[in-house]
Amino acid sequence: MSSQIDHLLTETRRFAPPSSFAAAAVGTAELYERAAADRVGFWSDQARELLHWHTPFTETLDWSNPPFAKWFADGELNVAYNCLDRHVEAGAGDRVALLWEGENGDERRITYAELTAEVKRVANVLEGLGVGQGDRVAIYLPMIPEAIASMLAIARIGAIHSVVFGGFSADSLRSRIDDAGAKVVITADGGYRKGKVSSLKPAVDQALADRNGSGVQDTVDHVLVVRRGGNDVAWTEGRDLWWHDVVPAASDHHEAQAFPAENPLFILYTSGTTGKPKGIMHTSGGYLTQAMFTNKVVHDIHPETDVFWCTADIGWITGHSYVTYGPLANGATQVLYEGTPDTPHPGRWWEIIQKYGVSIFYTAPTAIRSFMKLGREIPQKFDLSSIRLLGSVGEPINPEAWMWYRKVIGGKAAPIVDTWWQTETGAIMISALPGVTETKPGSAQVAIPGVSIEVVDDDGVHVGNGNGGLLVVTEPWPSMLRGIWGDPDRFVETYWEKFSAQNYYFAGDGARLDDDGDVWLLGRVDDVMNVSGHRLSTAEIESALVGNEAVAEAAVVGASDETTGQAVAAFVIIKQSYLAAHSPDGLAQSLRAWVGEQIGPIARPRDVYIVEELPKTRSGKIMRRLLRDVAEGREVGDTTTLADTAVMSVISAQVR
Ligand code: WTA
Repeated sequence: MSSQIDHLLTETRRFAPPSSFAAAAVGTAELYERAAADRVGFWSDQARELLHWHTPFTETLDWSNPPFAKWFADGELNVAYNCLDRHVEAGAGDRVALLWEGENGDERRITYAELTAEVKRVANVLEGLGVGQGDRVAIYLPMIPEAIASMLAIARIGAIHSVVFGGFSADSLRSRIDDAGAKVVITADGGYRKGKVSSLKPAVDQALADRNGSGVQDTVDHVLVVRRGGNDVAWTEGRDLWWHDVVPAASDHHEAQAFPAENPLFILYTSGTTGKPKGIMHTSGGYLTQAMFTNKVVHDIHPETDVFWCTADIGWITGHSYVTYGPLANGATQVLYEGTPDTPHPGRWWEIIQKYGVSIFYTAPTAIRSFMKLGREIPQKFDLSSIRLLGSVGEPINPEAWMWYRKVIGGKAAPIVDTWWQTETGAIMISALPGVTETKPGSAQVAIPGVSIEVVDDDGVHVGNGNGGLLVVTEPWPSMLRGIWGDPDRFVETYWEKFSAQNYYFAGDGARLDDDGDVWLLGRVDDVMNVSGHRLSTAEIESALVGNEAVAEAAVVGASDETTGQAVAAFVIIKQSYLAAHSPDGLAQSLRAWVGEQIGPIARPRDVYIVEELPKTRSGKIMRRLLRDVAEGREVGDTTTLADTAVMSVISAQVR
């Protein structure tokens, strides 16, 4: 890490926005002044100016019971109305909302009027199935327009969605359905991935299979199934419904009811430091205000002329805030792409940008690095001149990748916004404003207007410019998580206990302030890994590994990886009986596959090292830092706190 910091500190390049960009930018320097003068008043203005309120709020922020915040609490709104109906009523019904491209080349252009009608039909169907305010609906879908329509229909009726990434296993889906107590699951037969149909419905069937004796009550009454892959699926009469049978037949009249600003909008599960994923809960008014505001001023959305493309899947928070809610609340036109970046050819993304004239492109550093590896010849075959702004999210972007992004994709002119935020923060927290900030390759730079962040030491004391420490948010913000579903204690412990004296939100990231006070993110300081921009917990993968009958003990670390940022490296102790009967290579292969089945392919370890012992302190805590040294091929650090100091040389020898 220290060589990385030194390297970052020598970065002195600066890029001012092109003057034509600055002149037309939505986000201006005045926003910082307004927010600095009256932070709470600033958000109150944003909420009023940006959203339609059925009942206006009179109180902006209630922070009388920290860390439980309420924003705009006596106001009432309908989130879907704000994303759809109001644009149609304002005369923008013919504007394209979604430019959908299937991986297999299918295309659909859906206007705001059409999407509004579809969402009304789905809302009627869900109400017909008995779904109402506060009920949970799970979504397990590919990136197809029905995924967006489902989220908005659930929001429209005041229910709560829980989107589960389509790459998660039946087990992961099951634990999320159970934790939320979902009443309905919306899925598809399958979707296109890497040139073939990848099925989804069988995982839902497996997740909902016979729970007799499991002690878990089955809450799911219905499964609504979109036909996309055309693959054969099993059918449970009475429970399963085809989307194409019920949605087109439903009425497209549906009046949007008003719900309180603090009505829960969604639960989204994310990895923490323990084995059990946390259901991060977001509510309506504050979330939508900040998602829309940041999309507008950070992504510089001009809805009449821009074509926006955020490449995130709706299974992640980036897909929630910058595919579904932010762009649609802004009335933007956006690209939605079903498949993988390299199917059927490695230039697919650039081809899509050329085809649709994408002007604002938002993706993750891991994708940029993998394109860098393939070479600039591939993007250079396409006309990318429509691009005027680039964004990055999910992990620190190294200056080399930043420069490549600027030169090869941005034509040496488009500003780059490196946006730091989390599932928990709901929306962007740290980022340049592209028409205002002089950008620095590798730094996320400054808090957005209305957000207060600091870098502090372990005691919560500000470290000051030129120093490193822990990133905290010092004041409540509108799109902050309101809790962990079903576990208020864990919410307080995880994020607020560390700096309870100051009421600071502890993000779990290390950061450094440069001499200008700009923020450089340095990665997680806890046992959360970041693989290709996806959060994975070491504990969750360890618990999957020890769930395999061959494994006696396991320790997992995130090892740095040139393309994916970090990669999962697992150290496992195999039971004697299995060691005798199987080859180490065979065991390692089958354990990689096992983790893929248990959690999902994204969690599959890059390396499985079979070892005889693990490095532990006298109190029995595994010293992951030392394992990381081994996995990254470094000399092993200080081992003096180990119970048995010889153990690391044994492990190093075995790994080699
Ligand atoms: C990391 C994704 C550096 C960080 C929106 C954070 C980043 C975690 C950046 C949240 C960035 C996200 N620079 N690190 N621009 N953006 N991170 O919940 O470690 O999937 O805590 O939200 O990603 O991941 P999550």
